[in-house]
Amino acid sequence: MPISAPLMSHFEHPELIHHQSYINGKWVDAFSGDTFAIINPSTGEHLIDMTNVGAIETNNAIAAAQAALAEWRKVLPKEKARLLRKWHQLIIDNQDDLARLMTLEQGKPFAESKGEVLYGASFIDWFADEARRLYGDVIPTFAQDKRLLTVKQPVGVVAAITPWNFPIAMITRKAGPALAAGCTIVIKPSDETPLCALALAELSHQAGIPAGVINVVVGKNAVEIGNVLTSHADVKKLSFTGSTPVGKLLLSQCAQTVKRTSMELGGNAPFIVFDDADLDAAVEGAIASKYRNAGQTCVCANRMLVQAGIYDAFSKKLAARVQELSTGDGFNDKVQIGPLINNAAINKVSELVESAIQNGATALVGGKPADALGTRFYEPTVLTGVTQDMSIFHREIFGPVAPLLKFETEAEAIAMANDTPFGLASYFYSQNIARIWRVSEALDYGMVGINEGIVSTEVAPFGGIKESGSGREGSKYGIDEYVEIKYLCMGGLS
Ligand code: SIN
Repeated sequence: MPISAPLMSHFEHPELIHHQSYINGKWVDAFSGDTFAIINPSTGEHLIDMTNVGAIETNNAIAAAQAALAEWRKVLPKEKARLLRKWHQLIIDNQDDLARLMTLEQGKPFAESKGEVLYGASFIDWFADEARRLYGDVIPTFAQDKRLLTVKQPVGVVAAITPWNFPIAMITRKAGPALAAGCTIVIKPSDETPLCALALAELSHQAGIPAGVINVVVGKNAVEIGNVLTSHADVKKLSFTGSTPVGKLLLSQCAQTVKRTSMELGGNAPFIVFDDADLDAAVEGAIASKYRNAGQTCVCANRMLVQAGIYDAFSKKLAARVQELSTGDGFNDKVQIGPLINNAAINKVSELVESAIQNGATALVGGKPADALGTRFYEPTVLTGVTQDMSIFHREIFGPVAPLLKFETEAEAIAMANDTPFGLASYFYSQNIARIWRVSEALDYGMVGINEGIVSTEVAPFGGIKESGSGREGSKYGIDEYVEIKYLCMGGLS
């Protein structure tokens, strides 16, 4: 039986739970008959057997998206907006069930899952409005008998490869603007968290979004599916959220057919606390930025750089707050830190922390896996005495560990912050307005939180520079990633 009865019984709308891919408006099995298990990272419980599709089904999904494109691109903006709004409303109406699926397959605390459902839905709502504002230009002419214009047209079929850490929001942040622009889409969600992706597809179906406009292919063989999505001539654009090494590989594959790409890749966010910061605000910002989703976000504070004059006070206060964080199963109301996604994640975090401690760092709180809770939990940790030569300074931790480094001057902090190939999010705390401008302009990052630990919202541009990627998601800029600007030159007008 693909779906266990206990899993079904928790849901108000069990029809949201699917174990097949969604192609051309239909739920399809793998040709091979293969399945793979979806596991609850908190309990290790086997949730469901998922059909395991590969190249054949991905080609079918692209064919369906290509066939649907001709009609979808012609749908009037007002009608596209209506369908997107309907989808948005259904997501909101099913907030609890979607959050339940998310906590089951991803592990984040239920309250956080509910927050992600709203965050994810906000991109559909935002881009429903943007669908009606896809303006072209009339360009002042260079000749009496000519008039010059631009129109914006959909790029075509879009492929979206999305991660497990935000199983809903990373899909809606791509599908919202793609559909609003008149594109159709083939989504390959992470094989760790396909249930949320398939539930979104079910709701898009209920909203009346036509067959073939949204397709979801779920398979364990990411290389095989990725090869098809990046090499197929009908796919005109790839939007990827994930690690920098995988992003580089996908970019090189997309080069063969010169696809448009948006890449939201890894980060190594500095969180700088200057002597003139509001200490309490900095500690709360650090908690929000570092421990959200158990530290498993690309924008999580990865290195806390703290000025010498406030270092001891900040580390003590932060350690006291971290000590209060409760770790465990996401369905327990008191829990703020859920499991890490898999054993490899636990091993990586453990290695980084052990190596830092061996090289002189001290764990003020935590510092090891929380074995008593299960195999995938890690204690919320604060490390002091971290230095730039430690690997924890350079690697993306993706776990609930805050490494603290001491600095003396503003110039030193900026040099340390920029000493990385990554450039996604950065944060700093200061109450000096001149410093706020200097530091904001000096940080080589796509996003800067100033006296603020969370910057994500549908209304602002999310994205990185350097090896953290290219393109922006959300905001008035997000839809530009899914359109081509066509220039029209009308002559003979004299
Ligand atoms: C990410 O971790 O990639 C996304 C985080 C966010 O949208 O806030």
